[in-house]
Amino acid sequence: MDDPKNIFVLTGAGVSAESGLGTFRDRGGIWARFDPMKLATPEAYAADPDTVLDFYDHRRRGVVAAAPNAAHAALARAEARLAERGGRLFLCTQNVDDLHERAGSRAVVHMHGELLKARCTACEAVTPWRDDLNRASACPACGIGGRMRPDVVWFGEMPMHLAAIEDALAAADLFVAVGTSGAVYPAAGYVRQARALGISTCEINLEPSDNADAFDDARYGPASTALTGFLADLGL
Ligand code: OAD
Repeated sequence: MDDPKNIFVLTGAGVSAESGLGTFRDRGGIWARFDPMKLATPEAYAADPDTVLDFYDHRRRGVVAAAPNAAHAALARAEARLAERGGRLFLCTQNVDDLHERAGSRAVVHMHGELLKARCTACEAVTPWRDDLNRASACPACGIGGRMRPDVVWFGEMPMHLAAIEDALAAADLFVAVGTSGAVYPAAGYVRQARALGISTCEINLEPSDNADAFDDARYGPASTALTGFLADLGL
């Protein structure tokens, strides 16, 4: 496609795989080793908060120790170059890490929340959080202890920023999904929404995703090279 002006990019765990953060559904992935129903639901947190908080503590430490890779950098560069051309790159991520931001992306919409933030279930204040969370952790806003949880979306909860995402999708002339298996809705449905709106679609992944047949175009390979090459071909 020639010179798209408004690109909607949806990223998933595959974008952070080369930074050493595990994906969910690949062989040996997080959900192959752990039961999401026991770790990533409000019911699991209510029944066994220590186990749930430990799981996210472990992942938070991994995020803090990780560094962005070439795919994150390419997206940050493309955002800046597209803005120079008077266009816009809307970056919607399912990832709860901060590697897009650390690579320089300015506007990142985290539809599944952010691991480096904690939310108080007593007053709903959201606070930047880099340390472990435990049942004694107190909310800096209201002072109540024992009610802090990671500010991430669990199964059975509503993803965040859905209205802004729908608006950006409707305004896009190119939809690109990178490193996502297409297994979790609503994100998995965006390619078909884009197609229905007449927007060009491309998937960039290590291998065809569950949704591969819904895309117009595809580039297969590690995101660090496949995405970088795709954006370079667009002059971004
Ligand atoms: P998945 O683990 O389901 O899919 C990761 C995708 O990335 C797979 O299709 C891999 O083939 C691909 N992949 C792996 N390494 C790659 C690389 N180096 N370059 C390019 N692609 C690569 O992760 P998501 O689709 O992000 O939600 O999962 C969606 C949601 O399910 C997550 O946000 C999380 C999870 O349960 C919640 O926890 C609510």
